[in-house]
Amino acid sequence: MQNNTFSTLFVGQNLIKLSAVDSTNNFLKNLMANSEPLPEGTVIMADHQYAGRGQLQSKWDAEPGKNLTFSVLLRPTFLQVNKQFFLNIVVSLALNQVLNKILGEGVSIKWPNDIYFQERKIGGVLIENVIAGTGIKTSIIGVGINVNQQQFPAELTDKACSMFQILQKDVNLVNLLAEICNVMESIYMDFKKGSYTNLKKTYVDKLYRLNEVRLYKKDGEVFEGIIRGISDTGRLRMSISGDDFEFSFKEVAFLN
Ligand code: BTN
Repeated sequence: MQNNTFSTLFVGQNLIKLSAVDSTNNFLKNLMANSEPLPEGTVIMADHQYAGRGQLQSKWDAEPGKNLTFSVLLRPTFLQVNKQFFLNIVVSLALNQVLNKILGEGVSIKWPNDIYFQERKIGGVLIENVIAGTGIKTSIIGVGINVNQQQFPAELTDKACSMFQILQKDVNLVNLLAEICNVMESIYMDFKKGSYTNLKKTYVDKLYRLNEVRLYKKDGEVFEGIIRGISDTGRLRMSISGDDFEFSFKEVAFLN
């Protein structure tokens, strides 16, 4: 299916819009299992995602009709498993770039791939890869962005925010999706050409709390640390009391 709203080569050209689904990642996975091979860049977008999934078995709740919840199919067969973190880099850089253009200063990437506006989360990414040998066969890139939602449940008001809350006006969801697909495709193409070092450097420059002395917690112990960057496999590099450490996802908690 050709989609003329998107001026991309492939990301979003096959766009499937659903009014309601459990999870766009699940839907894409099932479609891949039960249909003819889908074109790379297929996007599933849902108005209402009623069982959205977040990282590490968490939930992703989004008010129906107000937010972006979508999944993109990529086939990064050129990518070795030990470099899979670069998919997180490609996607979070694309989201950062698009949101920064609309919202201005204050957008950053909280390692590994949360999108933050100042001190609150505005978007999240759930990447699910299918590995074949030492390579990656398919990647489902699930993205949730808080767009026109005006309020969050009480327990999230200090932690989450939306584009509406910042701009005080609604943002067109399909136009925003088109812009994200555009930028994601362009960064993905650069990545395919091998610009690993540049992408990693740009990603590190956008990291939330980069080079700031802040509080963290590991195994119940609170300590001051400074984020310095990431390793080649995407582990978080920090200096703590002058020594260098690396952490994997969820090993370390960010405290306020
Ligand atoms: C996180 O921050 O924990 C990741 C959230 C990812 C949510 C998106 S919404 C579209 C896609 N489908 C899902 O079930 N999850 C992702």
